[in-house]
Amino acid sequence: VLKLYLDCDTGVDDAVALAYLLASPVDLVGIGTCNGNTSAVQAARNTLGLLQLADKSDIPVAIGEGAFGRGAATVHGDNGVGGVVLPSGGAADPRSAVELLKDLARAHSGELHILITGPCTNVAQALSEMPEISGMVASVTVMGGAVRIPGNVTPRSEANIHDDPAAAAAVLGAGWPVTLVPLDVTMQHRLSVADQAALRAGGTLLHEAVADMLSTYFDFYEPELGVREVPVHDAVAAGVAVGELTPSDAPQLALRVDLEGALSEDASAPSSVRAVLALDRPAGPVILRRILGLA
Ligand code: BDR
Ligand code: CA
Repeated sequence: VLKLYLDCDTGVDDAVALAYLLASPVDLVGIGTCNGNTSAVQAARNTLGLLQLADKSDIPVAIGEGAFGRGAATVHGDNGVGGVVLPSGGAADPRSAVELLKDLARAHSGELHILITGPCTNVAQALSEMPEISGMVASVTVMGGAVRIPGNVTPRSEANIHDDPAAAAAVLGAGWPVTLVPLDVTMQHRLSVADQAALRAGGTLLHEAVADMLSTYFDFYEPELGVREVPVHDAVAAGVAVGELTPSDAPQLALRVDLEGALSEDASAPSSVRAVLALDRPAGPVILRRILGLA
């Protein structure tokens, strides 16, 4: 089974992605948290709480490096998970997220897959401390960017790239196989209030907690979308990373990240990445069924 390191800024849709991965046939060998939707410390608390609800506290969770910046309390609530009170969970791993990732890359050399659902800070730091890691990792999937549509933080930039553009540029340009899952595709794949009700009825504490935190996310997206639906960006990226979601349009694009965090096509960019622009079927039902254990 696929060995996966998740780097996240947990976050409502990060939580959906985590619930999806915990129900998938993957070996989640470690989780690092980064500053983004909330602080790396709070993201670790959220992650540890979710793992506790899933009875998966054996998965190491390590806190990431870097300074906390913008945050996204209006999108994800003050605690990152829509105000839902999670159990305190186990202790964070004593290593930093960067150390954890480097250790996992050595332990699973050639086999480790990386999924980034927050800013690329930790993974870029690991690349700078251990450049050979780019040849030791099987694949890198990044939820981020807005290639051919407007961004969600500025008209040109998407949150994960915006919050650490230099890190994103380093990860996209490292020469390892990167799949980018931008807003172009994630905005199209959503959960509805009916899906929330199905999740709540799923029968576990994790289902209930994730269903509850979606309410804050609906509140944020409803005025923009005109319907009570939410794009589950990070869970879409998770589905692509583990191969359950199949792209129908995934061109190899030369992309450049600028200091504002805008990511644009530029033929002279130093490297190219595969950008998933469309999927072959709606991801929402796939993600929901998997989380509910029906897949
Ligand atoms: C991304 O930004 C965060 O707010 C979400 O968790 C997702 O990773 C979407 O732009
Ligand atoms: Ca995220």
